[in-house]
Amino acid sequence: MAATQGAKPRVLVTRKMMPDVEARIASLFDATLNAADSPLTREDALARAGDYDAILLTSFDKHFGKDFVGLVPDRMKIIATHSVGYDHLDIPLAKSRGIAVTNTPDVLTDATADISMLLILGAARGASWGDRMVRQDQWGETTLISPLGFDVSGRSLGILGMGRIGQAVARRASGFGMKLHYHSRSRLDPRLEHGATYHGRFEDMLPHCHFLSINCASTPATRNIVNDRTIALLPDGAIVVNAARGDIIDDDALIAALQSGKLAAAGLDVFRNEPKIDPRFRALDKVFLLPHLGSATPGTRSAMGHRAVDNLAAFFRGERPRDLLTGD
Ligand code: 8YV
Repeated sequence: MAATQGAKPRVLVTRKMMPDVEARIASLFDATLNAADSPLTREDALARAGDYDAILLTSFDKHFGKDFVGLVPDRMKIIATHSVGYDHLDIPLAKSRGIAVTNTPDVLTDATADISMLLILGAARGASWGDRMVRQDQWGETTLISPLGFDVSGRSLGILGMGRIGQAVARRASGFGMKLHYHSRSRLDPRLEHGATYHGRFEDMLPHCHFLSINCASTPATRNIVNDRTIALLPDGAIVVNAARGDIIDDDALIAALQSGKLAAAGLDVFRNEPKIDPRFRALDKVFLLPHLGSATPGTRSAMGHRAVDNLAAFFRGERPRDLLTGD
C-alpha cells in the first residue's frame, strides 16, 4: 500500500487549496500543488497521473469523466475527492482496479444546509429581484401590493434526502416554523427526524410540499426525479430549491413549470453542466441563482481539505482511510 520505501508519496493536487491545507500537503507528501489555480484538462490529468501515487481532486473536476478511475496508470493507488459527492467518479470501477477512493463528508454539512436555507428564503422572498431593484435604482416603484414574496413560516417543507445535510436543513427549517416532511430510501430513527413526517414514496410526499428542498445524492435512482410528472404533484405555487446536484432536476420541466406559474419560484445552487448553465434560467425573474456555493466558506473548505489529507495520510500509513468509498 505504501509508496516506495522512505520516499514521500507523490500527490497531484488539481486545484489551489486553502493555505493551511496546502502547507500540510507540502509537509506530508511530495506534492504538485496548483499555484496558478488553473483547472487541469482531462488530458493533462491523465498524462501526468503516471508520475503520482495519488490525486487530490474535487467534484468541480467532473470533466475528467467518470471513467477517469479506469484510465489512470497502475501507479495511482488512491483518489481523494475534496467533496462529499462522488457522482463524478465510477466507484465500482475504481474498486475493481484496487484503487481506493475517499470523500469528505460531515465537515460541510452545516455550510451546505445554510445554503439550502438561503435558497428557501431567497426564492420565497425575492432576494434576486429585490437586489436587482435596489441596484438598478427602481426602488421607487414599490407599492403596498407589489412586489410581494411568499411566507416561509407556517408553510410545509419536503426534504428529498434526509442524510446529514437533509437533517441539518430540517433543524434549521423547524426554527423557521416550517412543517416538515421527508423522503429517503428508508425511515430514520425518530430521534433524527426533527418531527418530520416520513413518506416511503417520493410521489406521496409531493402534494404536502409548499417547498421542496433537494438534498440527496445524485444516483441513477434520483437523476431527473424532479420532472414533469413529479412537479405536477406539487401544490400550485410551490417552490423548489436544489443544493445537491443539478442532474436531479429535469431543467426543461422546471423551466416550463416556472414559466406557466405552476411553480412560484426556485432557488438553485447547482446545475447541470456547471458553469455553463441553461441560459433560460438567467431570464427567469423568479429564480434565485447561486454559483455552487454550498461549501464555500474558508472554514469549511479548510476542513474539507484537511479531511481529504487525513484520508491520504492514513492510506499511506497503511491504515484504512476514514472515508473509504471502495471498502467492503
Ligand atoms: C464542493 C460539493 O464545493 O462536496 C460536494 O459534493 O458539491 C461542493 O460542496 C465541491 O465539491 C468542491 O470541493
